[in-house]
Amino acid sequence: MVTIRRVPQLKNFVPLMQFDLNLGGRKSRLARVGDIDDLRRIAKRRTPAGPFNYVDGGAQDEYTYRGNREAFRNLEFDPAILAGSADVDLSTTIAGVESRLPVGIAPTGFTRMMHTEGEVAGVRTADRFGVPFTLSTMGTRSIEDVAACAPNATKWFQLYLWRDRDASQDLLERAWKNGFETLLVTVDTTVAGRRLRDVRHGLTIPPKLSAGTVLDASYRPEWWFNFLTTDPLTYASLSNEVSDLASLTSSMFDPTLSFEDLKWIRSVWPGKLFVKGVLTEVDASKSFDAGADGLVVSNHGGRQLDRAPITLEALPVVREAVGEDVPIILDSGIMRGQDIIGALALGADFTLIGRAYLYGLMAAGEAGVRKVFEILENEMTVTMQLMGAGSISDLNPDMVRTYSRNLKS
Ligand code: LAC
Repeated sequence: MVTIRRVPQLKNFVPLMQFDLNLGGRKSRLARVGDIDDLRRIAKRRTPAGPFNYVDGGAQDEYTYRGNREAFRNLEFDPAILAGSADVDLSTTIAGVESRLPVGIAPTGFTRMMHTEGEVAGVRTADRFGVPFTLSTMGTRSIEDVAACAPNATKWFQLYLWRDRDASQDLLERAWKNGFETLLVTVDTTVAGRRLRDVRHGLTIPPKLSAGTVLDASYRPEWWFNFLTTDPLTYASLSNEVSDLASLTSSMFDPTLSFEDLKWIRSVWPGKLFVKGVLTEVDASKSFDAGADGLVVSNHGGRQLDRAPITLEALPVVREAVGEDVPIILDSGIMRGQDIIGALALGADFTLIGRAYLYGLMAAGEAGVRKVFEILENEMTVTMQLMGAGSISDLNPDMVRTYSRNLKS
């Protein structure tokens, strides 16, 4: 058969030409982003090495950090053929409030160091997607500012269990007064984890202007312009002092804390209380004895105890120990909608993202955080449709298996 050619006609070309001449910087940066990993690559290009690696890294050898991802990667889902529905309902209830998606924003410290829009970008996006936002004690916007910029968002507050009871009580009162309804008490930070990337980058808060950072600034101009032209990075919930990471964290953390301190927090906090950082049966039951309403199964994104249990593996153990009726949130390592679906099928009621949110933030501010939630929503919807699940309550452990295939990504 001979190929017959014809003279091209302009009218056939016009519909194929889709040059969008109005693409702004962020819009064009995000137009071809397919997943969170793409956002991570953009984030790395645009953020100075110190802050980027603070987010991107974990503790010591980063075994736990990598193990979290590996465990998700090894999940296999049962498909259900010809059983999908057009509408998938991803909504669920957590801490007594409906969330439109089964994932919220985890507490993250120093967020405006990643991008100047910081917590404001996070809480506004959470509001838009109908999911909870958690403000960290080490946040860089105050409780009052975060509340004011998204009065209707579901807002949670995170407290490190630390020595200074007067300061804790003051924060808790302000959080409650400003509409933060649920408290996450982080218990896995009695000391700061050994983050070798921070040591090697000489990370200080805020980053210092040295010869290296000036060179860095020459190819990351937007970050440095924002950094130098907006209000200084202070530690909004605590004092206005800025200092190096090690002294900041050691002034916060206290290795002598005990469950008695947790009971004290329980006695002064009127809202729901989740203990964040539980990985074993024993700690799960002690947390409930101290008055917790729920748990966050978390290894702090592999940033604290290296070789700590992988959260996806700890989840069924903790679920078995505490029974079906108490809420469990899974945190650490989530980068895909499928990770969330797997966690829910294996017994979690809800999930949190920290790094994934920060990659979006570093890539394109608030628009980047929106992109994160669009991606996750889309990935979850398609996965549920292909699995024949119409709503979160359809998910169960029989739909999921774990295989170790050494898949390379
Ligand atoms: C961290 C502390 C701030 O993970 O929670 O870096």
